Formats: sequence, C-alpha cells, structure tokens
Amino acid sequence: MHTDIDTLFTHLWDNYVTITPSAEKIHSLLKSVSGDAELINDHVAFRTFNLDQTKLSKLAAHFESLGYEAKGDYNFEAKKLTAKHYQHTDLTKPKIFISELRVEELSAQAQTIIKNMVKSIDQAVVEQSNFLYSGPHWNINKADYDTLLSESEYAAWMAAWGFRANHFTVSVNHLSRFDNLQAVNNLLKQEAFLLNTAGGEIKGSKAVHLAQSSTMADKASVKFNDVSADIPSCFYEFAERFEMADGNLYQGFVAASADKIFESTNAK
Ligand code: NI
Repeated sequence: MHTDIDTLFTHLWDNYVTITPSAEKIHSLLKSVSGDAELINDHVAFRTFNLDQTKLSKLAAHFESLGYEAKGDYNFEAKKLTAKHYQHTDLTKPKIFISELRVEELSAQAQTIIKNMVKSIDQAVVEQSNFLYSGPHWNINKADYDTLLSESEYAAWMAAWGFRANHFTVSVNHLSRFDNLQAVNNLLKQEAFLLNTAGGEIKGSKAVHLAQSSTMADKASVKFNDVSADIPSCFYEFAERFEMADGNLYQGFVAASADKIFESTNAK
C-alpha cells in the first residue's frame, strides 16, 4: 500500500491526539504565539517489542520505504531497550526514533504475558503502513498489566496502547518568536502544563548539541478485559538543536537525555 510521508504523519497525529489532548492544545498555543503557519516536528517516536513479529526493523521498514535511512544506534541498559533513529534526506521531515524492549531480559512471567499478546498478530497486518497506528492487537487483564508495570513501565505502556506514535516533538529551532527551549518551557508552565522533571526540566544542553523537554503524559481510559482504568497515554516533546564544530546542526540523539524522556509515561 502506497502512502506518502505527509499523509502517514497526519494519520499518526490524528491517532495520537485522540489520547493526548494536551498535545493538540499546546500545538495550537505554539502556533498562535509563534505566528508560524505550521510547526515542524523534530522527530516522532515509536515503541515496540523485539519479538520476531514486532521487532524494530518491522516498524522501520515502513519508513525506509518512504526514503528514510538508519543513522544512529542507542542502548538503554537499565530500561532494557535498544533504539535506532532514522532520517530523511529532506530534513524538514521528522526524524524517526524507534525503540524496542529486549523481552528476553524480563522475568519468565512477563515474557509469557507479552508473547501471548503478540502471537496472534498476522504478518500481513504488520506490513501495512497503518500498522504504525493500529493500537493493541490483544486483550489483556488488568492484573497482567500490573505485573508488567511492576517490571517495566515501557512493557505496560505497550500492553495498554500498542502500536502508535508515543510522542511527537516540536522543533524549537523552527519556531518563530521563541529564542530557545527555556522560553517554550516558561510559556507551558505559565499555561499550567505539567513538564517531566526527571533529570531536570531540560535534558541535555548546548554542550551535547541537543536540549529536550517534554510534558508528562496525559491520562486516558483503557478497557482491559475485566475493568477500565485511567493510565498514562502519550506526551509531547520539544527539542532544540545546536551547531557542531562543522557548522551543521546535530541530528542525533543523546542517550542520557532520552533515558529520562522515556519516564514521561510514568504514573509516578
Ligand atoms: Ni523523543
């Protein structure tokens, strides 16, 4: 199925804001204050499990078919995650950041829960580009969600929300009338949006060529097999990039910062 890049991102955004209403509010706020007709996304992030049916490369294939190339590799030891980022030759297209949970590093009990979730996914479905915003392909009990949550916040988030954009990220460099990331954060706090303070409100700095901040995830209702519950959904991120010695803006990610950004979906 052929989908052009902009159409795919429109579908991903529409799906994302259904459970992340604060992102839509912030998007409108930044557009109105900046006066920009459109905001540029720095990157869009995805989560998955490293099992054969759902591994990172299966999600990446959709972007590779649209002209994206793998650029950076990342490892998050404590969170048991491997990640890669992808870039398009047109740098106004968002970078793609895909992480995958190393399921084999979880307890036997958690592995069984996840393998049962994933086993019925049809590969033909994975190969359609709308798989990227298809949500969960399984039913799960709240108790199993809680078991995953006690071991891996990331595993629990995937169990509840499945395949979709985990966050969109505003490129602060492209925002008119904002000098820097701090100015964006100041406005968001003034408007009572809740920022992720893990590792400091701003992760990274000019010294590592990338500064990032994010909201704490909204909460949205999930229907488990047995009960419904309000749990963290998705968040919105803001990134400011700095020039490297060669005069080009840094296009990679900083693992120490991304590690704390993952915590934006923690329930606390
Ligand atoms: Ni991000």
